[in-house]
Amino acid sequence: MTDTGLHALVDAYGESPLDALDRGLLHLAPQARPDPADLGPDDVLVRVRSAQVGWVDLIMASGQYQHMAAPPYTPGLEYAGDVAWAGDRAAARWPVGARVIADGFWTGPRSKGAHQRWGGFATWAVAPAGALRPLPEGWSHDEGACFLGSYETAWHCLFARGRLAAGETALIHGASGATGLAAVHLAKRAGATVIATGRDPEKLAAVAAAGADHVVRTASTDDGGVVPFRDEIKALTGGRGVDLVYDGVGGPISVESLRCVRFGARYVIVGWAATPDVAGGAGRRGAPNANVLPTNLIMMKGLDVLGAPTAISTHADPSIREERLAALDALVADGLRPHVGAAWPLTELLDALRAKWRSAFVGGGVVRP
Ligand SMILES: NC(=O)c1ccc[n+]([C@@H]2O[C@H](COP(=O)([O-])OP(=O)(O)OC[C@H]3O[C@@H](n4cnc5c(N)ncnc54)[C@H](OP(=O)(O)O)[C@@H]3O)[C@@H](O)[C@H]2O)c1
Repeated sequence: MTDTGLHALVDAYGESPLDALDRGLLHLAPQARPDPADLGPDDVLVRVRSAQVGWVDLIMASGQYQHMAAPPYTPGLEYAGDVAWAGDRAAARWPVGARVIADGFWTGPRSKGAHQRWGGFATWAVAPAGALRPLPEGWSHDEGACFLGSYETAWHCLFARGRLAAGETALIHGASGATGLAAVHLAKRAGATVIATGRDPEKLAAVAAAGADHVVRTASTDDGGVVPFRDEIKALTGGRGVDLVYDGVGGPISVESLRCVRFGARYVIVGWAATPDVAGGAGRRGAPNANVLPTNLIMMKGLDVLGAPTAISTHADPSIREERLAALDALVADGLRPHVGAAWPLTELLDALRAKWRSAFVGGGVVRP
């Protein structure tokens, strides 16, 4: 059984994601089809069709992420594909040809244990049977690859942590991104009013087309700050301020956001795409450049500031996931579909990763082996 393919490998962590790419620490290499003789009875061999180009794939390659797969490993946290072979105990559930999504919580670089080295930036990946889910009826592999991580994050941040309710107003930063656009989709379906921010008018138009009620353009000042947007947000909320902030951007936008909220609002910390050097590179981690929030605003506005690390929270209490997946499955049955904004062949993976780093597309982006 020989069928040569291609896979990406991270040999060692870079100082930063771009350093890992520039120095070839994350590179493509030939991949032989794994031999079933080397696999176990619960293993499934997946012919990967699409893998999401993820922010975490970049940050993990620089050793800045809180969870690091040990090099050498194949990045690509999330992927979808077709079953090519299944072990004795897996075959009844996953027949050859079944269209599947790999759950990055249980397999690939974000998982713990034996399947950590099998990411989706590859022609072939091996996953344990329990880590696979059926690709929803009528979905493309690209849509499947852009589903779980982004929508689970958005759900955890908006609802499990942020308690967003129908009739409330959410300010969503980084709304053109993979998790941000998922948050726009979910907040709208929950009956909230969405104010979405971003730096680029074209991408903001796409965010509005995806359902945001209002879009607000943000811009940097010469000294690295952000042009104030409080007045605009106050005007959009009748002077009241928003009920919830979903902040996947961090940096100067965060402090300005605390001026855009009503008394008693929830401020959900999702990530910090604008300040990716918060943690030390090359696996040193720590927080030498930590983001800082003003305690006076938090105090006087009676704010709930909520850290919302989806995967860490789920490892700490796996029971929180059942409600989340059930809610997302119900939304999928009701027509929810991820937005796929860009696609490359796997051979152009490095270009795709650089495009992700530059925020060059809307929603999820994928590579196809
Ligand atoms: N809490 C969790 O469990 C969890 C899970 C997954 C990811 N995350 C984090 O969430 C963040 C976003 O991830 P993602 O995959 O959605 O990333 P993404 O697709 O790259 O989106 C991030 C968005 O932030 C905006 N942005 C980027 N750099 C910026 C800057 N310098 N200034 C202002 N805005 C900037 C961009 O929007 P515009 O270009 O339109 O301005 C971009 O679309 C990351 O920090 C990631 O680590 C958190």
